[in-house]
This record gives sequence, structure tokens and C-alpha cells, in this order.
Amino acid sequence: MTTTTENMHLIEIQDISKTYKSGDSEVHAIQHMDFYIDDGEFVGIMGQSGSGKSTLLSILGGLNHPSNGKILLDTLDVYNLTSEQRADLRSEYIGVIFQSFQLIPYLTVLENVKMPMAITGMKAKKQHEMAMSVLKKVGLENKADRLPDQLSGGEQERVAIARAIVNNPPILLADEPTGSLDSKTADEIMSLLKQLNEEGQTIIMVTHNPDACSHASRTITVKDGTCMIH
Ligand SMILES: Nc1ncnc2c1ncn2[C@@H]1O[C@H](COP(=O)(O)OP(=O)(O)OP(=O)(O)O)[C@@H](O)[C@H]1O
Ligand SMILES: [Mg+2]
Repeated sequence: MTTTTENMHLIEIQDISKTYKSGDSEVHAIQHMDFYIDDGEFVGIMGQSGSGKSTLLSILGGLNHPSNGKILLDTLDVYNLTSEQRADLRSEYIGVIFQSFQLIPYLTVLENVKMPMAITGMKAKKQHEMAMSVLKKVGLENKADRLPDQLSGGEQERVAIARAIVNNPPILLADEPTGSLDSKTADEIMSLLKQLNEEGQTIIMVTHNPDACSHASRTITVKDGTCMIH
């Protein structure tokens, strides 16, 4: 249970800050955050709109360079890598469910789910099998040929989850995965995430919903770009 050296944490957030410049003004979106996440955790991130949650998640996902500080992922300094190395690291380690799904509207459900495998050089037949297998897991195997706008919000969310997990990444980052859903559908999505966590995936989930956070093993509250750990 206890860890002896710092380097045993899966993700270490070391004094990160992020300042956005917009016109003449600066937004201090993240200020001196310092914490860690261990393998197998289910971490909920809460906080008001504009507090810096999405910024934090995108920095953790290797998608947004912090202005200061370091992110260590399995002891690798994420932003000290070349952008090519970082892209490889992302594709191997991290699945992301974005705040607004970001499904590609002109691709079918199946094609959307196959996207992360396109760059891996995996054989087409294997890609098809893996995509169908995750679609089955999220209960959408019979809607593989639909376009995203022919699905309900909850179904689109499940496609976004399927796409994020198709490469079986050890870390899943989710930004408001239940934000636009009714409570029953939100519960189904939460059960799915809980199941993935029980199967070993480390999950970091941004949410406004305290009920959703009850599934998390730990909650981090973000306020004005700083965080409080519970
Ligand atoms: N690309 C950007 N350029 C300038 N400012 C930005 C940019 N992205 C975010 N911000 C600002 O940084 C702050 C944090 O934004 P962020 O998106 O991280 O908040 P959030 O906690 O995810 O909010 P929400 O709950 O509404 O999604 C906000 O003040 C926002 O306006
Ligand atoms: Mg956000």
C-alpha cells in the first residue's frame, strides 16, 4: 500500500503552471499544482467552470505544454520528449474522452473507433476485430455502421469511450463523460468506467457531478488553478 520512492507513482505532477495569453492579458489557468496518481486509481476532478480542470487534463494527456513544471509518466518526462516521442507515448499509454466527444461526423461508429489503431500499423482484420470487441463492451455492436448524428447523446458518449479504450491504454482521461446525459444514462456510463477501472485501467475523470465522484477512489478539487486533495 505505501510507496517508498517518488518514482513509483504512475503519474507525477511536479509544480506545474499554465498561463494562457489572450490579447494583452494573461490567464493563470493552472498555478503550482503538485500531486501524484498511482497505478489503478480512479481519481475524480471537481471544480467550478473555468477553474482549470480541462487544462489540467490536457496537460496530463500530453496535449498541452505547461508553462512551468514537469509531468512524469512512468518516470518519463513527458514534455522533455520530442513531439514524435510524445505522440508515441500518448498512443501507447493514454486514452482520452474529450468534453464534447469529438467524434468525426462523416465516419461511421466503427470507423471512429478504429481511428487510434490507424497509426499503429496493425492488420485491417485485427483492427476490425478489436473495434467490434470494444463496441460490444459498450453495447453498440449493432450500431457500428451508423454515423454519430444518428445516435443519442449517451450512445455517442459510449462511442467516445470505445475509441479511447480500443488500444487498451493503461490510463484513461475523461472530461465530463456524463455532463450532457440524464441520470440513468450517466449511471450506465459510470458503471462502464468503474468496470474498466476494476479491470486495471487508471482513470482520471473531470466531473461537476458529486454522485459521479462517489465512484472515484479519490477526489481532487480544483479552484482558481490550484488543487486540494481529499
Ligand atoms: N486556449 C485558451 N486560451 C486562453 N485561455 C484559455 C484557453 N483555454 C482555457 N482558457 C482559460 O483558462 C481557464 C481554465 O479553463 P478550463 O477550460 O481549463 O476550465 P474548466 O475547469 O475545464 O471549465 P469547464 O468546467 O467550463 O469546462 C479559463 O479561464 C479559460 O477561459
Ligand atoms: Mg472543461
